[in-house]
Amino acid sequence: MANIIEKRTLLRMGHPILLKSAEPIQEFGTLWLRDLADDMFAAMHAEKGVGLAAPQIGESVRIIVLAYPDPDNKRGIPPIPATVLVNPVLTFVGDEQEEDWESCLSVPGLIGKVPRYKNLRYDGCDMDGNPVNGEVEGFHARILQHECDHLDGKLYPTRIINSVSFGFKEEIEMAREMGVL
Ligand code: NI
Repeated sequence: MANIIEKRTLLRMGHPILLKSAEPIQEFGTLWLRDLADDMFAAMHAEKGVGLAAPQIGESVRIIVLAYPDPDNKRGIPPIPATVLVNPVLTFVGDEQEEDWESCLSVPGLIGKVPRYKNLRYDGCDMDGNPVNGEVEGFHARILQHECDHLDGKLYPTRIINSVSFGFKEEIEMAREMGVL
């Protein structure tokens, strides 16, 4: 695990690779693609994340991974199977949006409240170029929007409506417990 992290540094907000639009994958089924997806899952699991986009480990290509095992299931959210999505495209279903708290491995220690579409359809490919698609809602839809934003050079803090709802995780949790947020 340490090897992978050394090989693939997790980039942080402000890094130029995180600010640019990523390139579509044109060649499928390659070893390079498989290695990249492995490294993405390793980086994500090492940091206990639920999603990761390739630019976050320095590759400006349109690949995202997500997985939500949550053995405690304390949020009551259905698990999301480990998924690699290449060249994803999102189509929002309806206008309904909801605000909820997000964090990002490229913005360590902080959380913020972000509006996202509640329902969407996703289309993309797996690593061999086979179509992958589905319709999802809620937390699953939120992760997809967050990760696809990375492919367009966008990080969640730029989507926060009220900047008061942005801060360090422990402090925000304290404020929420006290009913301040
Ligand atoms: Ni992120």
